[in-house]
Amino acid sequence: MNYLNKIYTYTEGYRRVYFLSTLAVFGATVFSLLTPLIIKYIIDIIIQNFDLSDSYFEKSMDFFVGKSLLNTGILIFFVAFFQGGCLYFKGKLSSIASEGIVKTVKDKLYTQLQNVKYSYFNKVETGDLLQRCTSDVETIRKFLAIQLVEVVNIILMIIIIFFILINLNLKLSIIVLSIIPLMFIFSLYFFIVVKKYFKISDEAEAKLSTILQENIHGVRVVKAFASEDLEIKKFRCSNKHYSHVTYKLIRLFAYYWPISSFFSFVQMGLVLFLGIKWAVSGTITMGTVIAFGMYVWQLEFPVRNLGRILSDFGKASISFERIEEILDSETDFNENENLKKPQIKGKIVFENVRFSYIDKPILNGISFDLDIGETLGILGPTGSGKSSLIHLITRLYDYDSGSIKIDGVELKEIDKKWIRKNIGLVLQETFLFAKNVRENIGITKKILDDCDIFTAAKTASIHEGILNFKEGYETQVGEKGVSLSGGQKQRIAIARTIINNHKILIFDDSLSAVDIETDASIRRELKKKHSSSTTIIISHRISSIMDADKIMVLEGGKISAYGTHNQLKDRDGLYKRILKIQKDGMKEGI
Ligand SMILES: Nc1ncnc2c1ncn2[C@@H]1O[C@H](COP(=O)(O)OP(=O)(O)OP(=O)(O)O)[C@@H](O)[C@H]1O
Ligand SMILES: [Mg+2]
Repeated sequence: MNYLNKIYTYTEGYRRVYFLSTLAVFGATVFSLLTPLIIKYIIDIIIQNFDLSDSYFEKSMDFFVGKSLLNTGILIFFVAFFQGGCLYFKGKLSSIASEGIVKTVKDKLYTQLQNVKYSYFNKVETGDLLQRCTSDVETIRKFLAIQLVEVVNIILMIIIIFFILINLNLKLSIIVLSIIPLMFIFSLYFFIVVKKYFKISDEAEAKLSTILQENIHGVRVVKAFASEDLEIKKFRCSNKHYSHVTYKLIRLFAYYWPISSFFSFVQMGLVLFLGIKWAVSGTITMGTVIAFGMYVWQLEFPVRNLGRILSDFGKASISFERIEEILDSETDFNENENLKKPQIKGKIVFENVRFSYIDKPILNGISFDLDIGETLGILGPTGSGKSSLIHLITRLYDYDSGSIKIDGVELKEIDKKWIRKNIGLVLQETFLFAKNVRENIGITKKILDDCDIFTAAKTASIHEGILNFKEGYETQVGEKGVSLSGGQKQRIAIARTIINNHKILIFDDSLSAVDIETDASIRRELKKKHSSSTTIIISHRISSIMDADKIMVLEGGKISAYGTHNQLKDRDGLYKRILKIQKDGMKEGI
């Protein structure tokens, strides 16, 4: 199986520990299999006083413990003690190896999720991703710590018991052991059937986590629309599907256990029936029958368990696939690509740029240029492609055709991390981390310098506001702690961006939640402190972009007007219409 190769690659760095763990398993198996032979020795040689057979075991027993019951009892005690010791090391070593491997997998997953293409997150659901990073990793941990070692244990046990039984009595062992392949085939069949259901069950569980996660995240919307009942219904529907799938799985297992028990009963029945019959006729000794019985009894649970473990192999193989899917997804950063890292000064030139999301054309031939330190205002109806345009500049997506040059260098030739490090972008949706205000503003800084943080907060007109919080800059934001107003969040996000003094600054509708006066004050401060930065401001508010050196009106992915405020204010079109609506609104005090 392909995923067994994958497992092997995962075990890198822990193979020695795994090897020692396998040795411990071997030790535990050997010790556990000695007891029936010792019992046979007690019954046949010590109690019934039969002559020693040709077996090395009986000769060694005679040499070390003689025919003393006490010595044999002490030997059984030591065998049990060493078996316990081996089991302890098996547990300890396999846990060390599996925990280490799982830690490596988690680190790999996190690194990959940081590096995957931005578009990857359009395709996946958060709940599903979280499930892959938690329950799927846990399934792998169980697989490596328990199941893999257990399978080695069972296989070793079957092989050793096979040789012992054949040496004890060939005829009885052939009859008894012939049941094992049947049990194994049945287990394997079960494993194949159950694998499909585990996948369906995992998907249903992921769907459930997604709904839960969405509802917790969007609790305000749910409550605002009083749609709790509808959401409860949706959850119940998914939950019903999940429990239905799980019930099917449980039902499959309910068939499995009685059928596999039947095989075991037949096996034990054969030992007792034939064994006792042959013992009475003197073909075999009573000690041999009891040893056979003990071995069959010892084999019963592991062989029946093999089906369960194999079905868990199915679960683990699906978890491996789901984790591999993340690890194999395309990343933004190709180490082989030798991309440029030019010094960014801020000149931006678009030439006939076209862009589409998969097959949906969004930008159709955009051309404009911005000199170092110039400001561009972008206005346009919702869905006209404004955010898409700026996502191209930060290389979150790559343009289909045309050319974008930053300081004369084609953008596709510039390293993605480098360009993102050199562009300050305030996204349309404000997201703050569950940290305090100070850490949120300085999140991109290795060392938090209060002076830088205060300056950025002052430029974003939020310094005074933060000082008015009870705990000032130490106030917790994000999911926990106080809730901030939309405008406060936006200004903290602005401060977080401008703290880096980038040569290119982009504000994607980032002043929409602040009042006009604060908006003007932030732009004034920006002009004062970041006058050499090329700035792009996207806004639906004319007042936010009217002072810009250039204004672009974007409609349906095309530039419908381009110029300064004075050029556009009297030209028929969207700009003039919006200006009039907003002026009239101001007069009416809206
Ligand atoms: N990740 C995506 N995948 C597919 N289509 C997308 C994606 N993001 C946006 N779109 C589509 O692209 C078009 C332009 O979206 P964009 O976000 O650029 O608009 P916008 O001008 O910024 O709108 P708004 O003013 O509402 O922010 C819309 O029709 C939108 O549905
Ligand atoms: Mg937008």
